[in-house]
Order: sequence, then C-alpha cells, then structure tokens
Amino acid sequence: MTDVVLEVEELSATYRGVVAVEGLTLNVPAGRIVTVIGPNGAGKTTLLNAVMGVLPARGVVRFRGEAIGRLDVEARVRRGISLVPETRELFATLGVEDNLRLGFWRHRGAGAAAMRRALDEVYALFPRLRERRSQAAGTLSGGERQMLAMGRALMARPSLLMLDEPSLGLAPLIVRDIFRAIAALRDTGVAILLVEQNARAALQVAEYGYVLETGRIALQGASAMLAADPRVIETYLGVG
Ligand SMILES: Nc1ncnc2c1ncn2[C@@H]1O[C@H](COP(=O)(O)OP(=O)(O)O)[C@@H](O)[C@H]1O
Ligand SMILES: [Mg+2]
Repeated sequence: MTDVVLEVEELSATYRGVVAVEGLTLNVPAGRIVTVIGPNGAGKTTLLNAVMGVLPARGVVRFRGEAIGRLDVEARVRRGISLVPETRELFATLGVEDNLRLGFWRHRGAGAAAMRRALDEVYALFPRLRERRSQAAGTLSGGERQMLAMGRALMARPSLLMLDEPSLGLAPLIVRDIFRAIAALRDTGVAILLVEQNARAALQVAEYGYVLETGRIALQGASAMLAADPRVIETYLGVG
C-alpha cells in the first residue's frame, strides 16, 4: 500500500452560509504531485485554506494518519504542512534571506548550522535567490517572488507542500522553471498538492489530478488520462 500523506474526506466549507466546496474527497500519497485544476471560483483556494486550518470546514482531514481538523494553523505547520498562498505574502521590505529565515521558525531550536543547511538546500533549488539574497523582496520580479515564497515554505521542511496557483501571472518560461522546481521537490520525497488554473502545465507535472467545478469534484484520474479526456481537452486545454 502506498503511504498516504494527506487524506481529505467529505470536506465542505461555506462563507456566511454560501457553499464554496462540498463533499470533497481526495488523497495525496507520499512523494507524489497531485493537482486540483478548475476555473476561477471553483473552490481551490478554499480547499487549501481548509486543509491549512485558516478556514473552518466540515469533514475529515488526516495528515499522516492523524485527524488534524481541530488543530490550529501553527500546529499544522509544526506537523509538516506548508502552504504557499496565491498572494505569496512576503515581507516586502525585508531581504530575500531574511524572508527565508522566517520560514525556519518551526525548527528554531535546531541551531545555526541546521538553518544554514536549509538555506543551502533552497539556494540549490533556486540559485537566483542566492544571487539576490540581500535584495528586498518587494523589488523582485514575479517569478523570483514565487521562488521566494516557495523557498520560505520549504525552510519549514514540510512533508506536504501546498501550492496555490504558482503559475499565476508568470511568463511561460518562468512557469517552466517553477514547475521544474516542483518536480525536483517531489523527487526529494515531498508530497505536493498543486492547485492550478493552468491545467496543461499542472497535468504535465502531476501524477494524479482532480477537476473541481463549482465546489465539487467533477472528474478525477491519472494525469495522462485526464489530459486525454475530451471533456478536459474541450474545457481546460483548448486546441493545440
Ligand atoms: N472570503 C470570502 N467570502 C465570501 N465568499 C468567498 C470568499 N472567498 C471565496 N469565496 C467564494 O467561494 C467560492 C470559491 O472561491 P475560491 O476558493 O477562492 O475559488 P478558486 O480559488 O478556485 O478561484 C467562490 O464562489 C468565491 O466567490
Ligand atoms: Mg484561488
């Protein structure tokens, strides 16, 4: 049996009584990339916020076998879950490396050498961040900001990394770099839940995918199967 890192069962969330996601059931196995694709407003961000504990939700969320629905955000981060929000949420006036250091708080007792090793791992994945380590985060390009947001999440050394539309607003060549880094991370054993409107890029990198439409899972399957499904092609991949 594959080791499942995240199990979500019958998850529902509402905003002032208005249903945003309903009855979502999905799994993320260890060392895999699972994608949730769907249009704007489908409930992708709501799903990630509910798993992170930022938003109240009904249903069951299990992380490495433990029901975590009652834990607050900090406790979930300590367990090994990291979220890179759509808004990136960097500290604009702080430098790149200072932003990265803030991601290490979960391990603050581990000492300076451990922090250095974590920084070196992030710099190995994103060499541009090392070149710019003293630059203020607010002056970075969109692609560099996404790298920094991912790098800061990785400083927590998560076993589950959740990414909310990492390709948003980025040029195709930068998207390719970001998705290469996502694949490289998966190869180091991190489980990844990737939420995307860019279905083409997401299905290329992920092993398994779910299609979310107005808060419900409309389709699911191996990425190659979804990418060949006429409904997915027509609605999400277009021609060519
Ligand atoms: N803070 C909020 N207050 C009220 N409704 C919200 C809020 N955030 C999201 N919604 C609604 O919930 C639904 C799902 O939104 P969201 O999870 O942001 O979708 P996605 O990330 O797929 O674009 C949408 O109908 C959206 O309008
Ligand atoms: Mg969203």
